[in-house]
Amino acid sequence: MPVITNIEDLRVLAQQRVPRMFYDYADSGSWTEGTYRANQSDFNNIKLRQRVAINMEKRSTRTRMVGQDVAMPVALAPVGSTGMHWADGEILAARAAGKFGVPFTLSTMSICSIEDVAANTDKPFWFQLYVMRDRGFIERIIERARAARCSALVLTLDLQILAQRHKDLKNGLSVPVKPTLASLANLLTKPRWCLGMLGTKRRGFGNIVGHVSGVDDMSSLSEWTTKQFDPTLNWADVEWIKKLWGGKLILKGIQDPEDARLAVLSGADALIVSNHGGRQLDGAESSIQALPKIVAAVGKDIEVHMDGGIRSGQDVLKARALGAKGVYIGRSFVYGLGAMGEAGVTKALEIIHKELDMTMALCGRTDINSIGHDILLPGSY
Ligand code: GLV
Repeated sequence: MPVITNIEDLRVLAQQRVPRMFYDYADSGSWTEGTYRANQSDFNNIKLRQRVAINMEKRSTRTRMVGQDVAMPVALAPVGSTGMHWADGEILAARAAGKFGVPFTLSTMSICSIEDVAANTDKPFWFQLYVMRDRGFIERIIERARAARCSALVLTLDLQILAQRHKDLKNGLSVPVKPTLASLANLLTKPRWCLGMLGTKRRGFGNIVGHVSGVDDMSSLSEWTTKQFDPTLNWADVEWIKKLWGGKLILKGIQDPEDARLAVLSGADALIVSNHGGRQLDGAESSIQALPKIVAAVGKDIEVHMDGGIRSGQDVLKARALGAKGVYIGRSFVYGLGAMGEAGVTKALEIIHKELDMTMALCGRTDINSIGHDILLPGSY
């Protein structure tokens, strides 16, 4: 077993262990993947100020996201098909997050259902909602999230239609896996994954299959989104969902200050500066570049979070310095899951926490809540 010291090590292991179609599903962006790459690389341009001879004992990364205590300002992002990276992946990731003291967000397009995750974990989790044409489904799934005691609803606004990811088409991505020659040949090289999957019943989209009439086999995510996701989604729907839910509401997928102002008017508790991990509008600016403009426009009126490109604690610190009260990791935890199951998710969180804590100290700070843009080198952001 190699010594794992950073998220890249987990990515390499996951690539070896997870069937190609699911690994590629996570590790891809839309079209040229330009925005996907920029999400990560734009962090490198932002420089930190090195400070010395400041007492760095008694450090804390504890803070709050939407009023909830977190061990560090990092939540697990909703990732569709997480349970295809490791058997029962959503339950395992939720457990790891719960033990670590950070929120886990369950995707509508998860493999383990809301009820399943609630029954097999002991901490409240967040639920991410996609808006479908079938409004009865929305009403029921919000009720299910409430019954499962989810402590926040994350409403995704940037995926009314699904952008094209070349690899998914080329790999014939499907859940469950269709037994084509190419997919079977690839599965033969992933014995650990196959054993895990043989040992679980959770191999389809648990929130959907059995809950929508006529859907008992739903193999293609792109087919499902084309048929079911609502392209007419608008701010009146956000208002309707806010009323239906009645709890903490986080709006995901805001990149533009005008949309950010509308998010404030909607009365949501937080917004997430996000381009869906570079998976939707290829050519959009990176999240970390968009962040300061959103914070300048609405930072006093709403809690601003961000996601996209976070692969280290340094990235978390930079986002926090630019005004994000919290960030989300998607691929960083999914790589851990694909590499080693629950232990891999814990490892990803430990890696990011340690990097965050030590980097904060080397910037001369001991409390995450004191971090502002003054830890950044002027001119580098
Ligand atoms: C769905 O959320 C996707 O990005 O594939």
